[in-house]
Amino acid sequence: MIKLKITLEQIESLDKRMEKHSEKPGPLMPTLHDAQKIIGCIPNEIQELISNKLKVPIAKINGVVTFYAQFSLVPKGKNVVGVCLGTACYVKGAQAILDKVGSTLKIKSGETSEDGEFTLEATRCIGACGLAPVMSINEEVYGKLNVSKTIEALKEHEGVTLND
Ligand code: FES
Repeated sequence: MIKLKITLEQIESLDKRMEKHSEKPGPLMPTLHDAQKIIGCIPNEIQELISNKLKVPIAKINGVVTFYAQFSLVPKGKNVVGVCLGTACYVKGAQAILDKVGSTLKIKSGETSEDGEFTLEATRCIGACGLAPVMSINEEVYGKLNVSKTIEALKEHEGVTLND
């Protein structure tokens, strides 16, 4: 797992964002988005900080962070690979795609590679069912995948060690 180091600059930057958000109703979600962006994840100590500042119970914050896939308690890799396991993708062989990505990157779903390059996630439907089976790498979506197209897509991103 990647070691997390939170800097004073990151805390100050998050604090400024919270000041701004607390002027409007519903400051929690925008704050969490900022925390994820600034720090790369929202661990317990950051949740406590947000709880104190926004006067929102920590249990509520933890519930939101663990519910939404875009938030993470631990640092994610430089590249986040999401393999859709929604119904349309699943019936078109998404499990084989997920297995191939896992064996190629040598990580399981939910894990981050030792070098911090990749995080692998199994996702719900991402709304591109017509292209099933589908995988995303960061913002980019790859569709109508088979095993070799999957490997090609991974190779476009640095740091892939093939393990065939
Ligand atoms: S089920 Fe995979 S994109 Fe919809």
